Amino acid sequence: MKLLILNGPNLNLLGKREPEIYGAESFEDYFQQLQKKFPNIELYYFQSNIEGEIIDKLHEVGFDHDGIILNAAAYTHTSVGIGDAVKAIEAPIIEVHISNVYAREEFRHHSYVSPNAKGIIIGMGMKGYELALQSFLE
Ligand code: DQA
Repeated sequence: MKLLILNGPNLNLLGKREPEIYGAESFEDYFQQLQKKFPNIELYYFQSNIEGEIIDKLHEVGFDHDGIILNAAAYTHTSVGIGDAVKAIEAPIIEVHISNVYAREEFRHHSYVSPNAKGIIIGMGMKGYELALQSFLE
């Protein structure tokens, strides 16, 4: 089982960025724990602040991996290109948001990813990534 966690813009700052919303843990630390917890899964991680790099990564793994856990961050709400890429590839996508975007500003209520996601996990903190991962095991 090959899975990729793909994080979008500003999520490289997890642990430092608005900890009251996103928590105090860095993604690298969290990712290492996940890898230890699921040693039988080939688990990969990629983060970019650049829209085209996220699209390229979706193309690269989207016909090869068993699933993608995607937090496109702010691009979720703006990127037709990422939405189209999610639609174009074969690997199922679980969309994750750390915060409850529906309890926040209205511009965060729209997602270009959701219509073509297999499932969506929102507002469960970092644990959302693990829940998404587990959904691929069932
Ligand atoms: C986010 C929510 C987005 O609205 C925001 O732009 C982010 C992170 C989340 O994980 O809660 O950067 O995707």
